Amino acid sequence: MAAKVLDSEAGVPDLLVALEQRFAQVDGYGIAREERSKLRRAGRYAETESLQYGEVRLTSFWRLLQTLPLTPEHRIFADVGSGTGKPVFCAAALEPAFDTCIGIEIVPALHEEACRVQAALQQGTPQEHTLAKRIQLHNADLFKAVDVWAQAQVLYIPCTCFTNDMMAAVHRLLLEDKVAPGTLIITTTRELTDKEGGRLAHVLTRQLPYQRGAITFHVYRKLQGSSANSSTTTSTSEAAPSSPMPGATTCTPTAESARAGNTKSHGAGESDARPMDKRSKR
Ligand SMILES: C[S@@+](CC[C@H](N)C(=O)[O-])C[C@H]1O[C@@H](n2cnc3c(N)ncnc32)[C@H](O)[C@@H]1O
Repeated sequence: MAAKVLDSEAGVPDLLVALEQRFAQVDGYGIAREERSKLRRAGRYAETESLQYGEVRLTSFWRLLQTLPLTPEHRIFADVGSGTGKPVFCAAALEPAFDTCIGIEIVPALHEEACRVQAALQQGTPQEHTLAKRIQLHNADLFKAVDVWAQAQVLYIPCTCFTNDMMAAVHRLLLEDKVAPGTLIITTTRELTDKEGGRLAHVLTRQLPYQRGAITFHVYRKLQGSSANSSTTTSTSEAAPSSPMPGATTCTPTAESARAGNTKSHGAGESDARPMDKRSKR
């Protein structure tokens, strides 16, 4: 049985509504399509596989973030495949605020679009300006920028269309010490099955409206010890398939059933990352 779909615009803060307006003219799908066409024209078909595009709906992602068991230790948010940056901006709008919200995106044109939104916010209302200062955007391959995102305590991995090799590599990285115990890890569509060590506990699963269609978010917590505590599980879905995806790689952008170093950064800079004890309380 499918997980419950939640969608309601009620109770959405003004800042999120303002972000919706900023994104109204942003066509991430079009930019990504153009990029894939360029790669195909150059005969680089394999590279297009993981560049299938999909975007969160701001209100959905905001609601998902609100359901997370966040504590004052969750100071940094990172989106590892950030596209035009919607989840990064959305996380930066959350109250109490994250110190820093990081986006890592491999496609320069998508990264540049996110930078344009950030620049516009910097010229906007005082609230928007403050939000923009929390954001750091990097044009990078996530595998070459591990130190940038592994410092986050809330990791968003939009992996619906990641290849199986990418998925396995990301999984290995998540189990390394660079990712601290207590880190909350959000994936799209694909599940993280920690066969060896029980170092990842499933926290919840939600299916929510996506920009096109709907998508399932899985949330995990990295554990300190060797055994995952299944009592923390609060899934709203029926048992999901244990294997995230078959080997097939076909993606359609309209539904979740779709298969779903050079580092240039643009952001608030080191000085915006406040120490934990100065952070607004969650
Ligand atoms: C499904 S989109 C998600 C966009 C955004 N995070 C959202 O949820 O609205 C996945 C993004 O990951 C990016 N991506 C794929 N492989 C990547 C890699 N190796 N490093 C960084 N980004 C990558 C794609 O270009 C694409 O923009």
